[in-house]
Amino acid sequence: MAAIGTQNRYAAPSRLLHWAIGLLVLLTWPLGLMIGFAKKDVVLDFYLLHESIGFLVLWLMLIRVGNRWMNRPPRHEAPPLERYAAEAVHGLLYLFLIIMPVSGFLATNAHGFPLKWFGILEVWSPIGKSPDIAPVFSAVHEWSAWILLGLFTVHIGAVLMHHVIRKDDTLYRII
Ligand code: HEM
Ligand code: HEM
Repeated sequence: MAAIGTQNRYAAPSRLLHWAIGLLVLLTWPLGLMIGFAKKDVVLDFYLLHESIGFLVLWLMLIRVGNRWMNRPPRHEAPPLERYAAEAVHGLLYLFLIIMPVSGFLATNAHGFPLKWFGILEVWSPIGKSPDIAPVFSAVHEWSAWILLGLFTVHIGAVLMHHVIRKDDTLYRII
């Protein structure tokens, strides 16, 4: 296994944001799916928790985009095609981690249920109750959720391939 030097590692803020957001998304995603199965007396709690954690992901993602300008990812010693594939999957993960909370936020407002963040802070929305477009935002949110899951599966598959089969230092770049 190649020795890992600091030049081969993501910067500390990038690593911290990767794991914080990763953990929150792994919590938010199943919570979203469970909304459909939750009993009537707890369904609002599921909505609130799902939406509040999901909205937190949006703010952390905005910080992460800014952070990526300041702390560029470490260089990949890999053939060009492999490098482009990794960059494409990472770029799409960034994109869908922003589409997800934005579409969810617009959906809940359009359905007429504005977000009270963690039950405390009423969040201003550019749109109010709009029954005509609410199903569109919901559809974008649901489709994006499955695309995100697909991207995550590819991501983990690639990490496992590097770690278990090639036994290289890819995993250590982010920890
Ligand atoms: C990273 C952020 C998020 C992820 C990964 C996520 C994921 C999901 C998933 C997997 C579902 C179930 C979809 C299905 O039934 O097929 C869902 C539903 C839902 N989510 Fe999210 N979500 C996120 C953020 C948000 C935010 C910020 C809000 C609102 C402020 C929100 C509002 C909703 C609502 C209202 C539903 C019920 C279905 C609908 O009417 O659209 N989500 N979400
Ligand atoms: C759960 C276990 C996870 C592991 C072991 C893991 C591992 C890794 C590794 C090793 C890298 C660096 C790849 C490279 O240098 O080419 C990375 C980057 C990345 N991961 Fe994960 N990851 C996990 C979860 C997640 C989740 C849940 C998400 C989002 C849904 C995610 C999104 C990303 C993104 C966007 C990057 C690129 C970082 C950047 O360029 O800023 N990861 N991950």
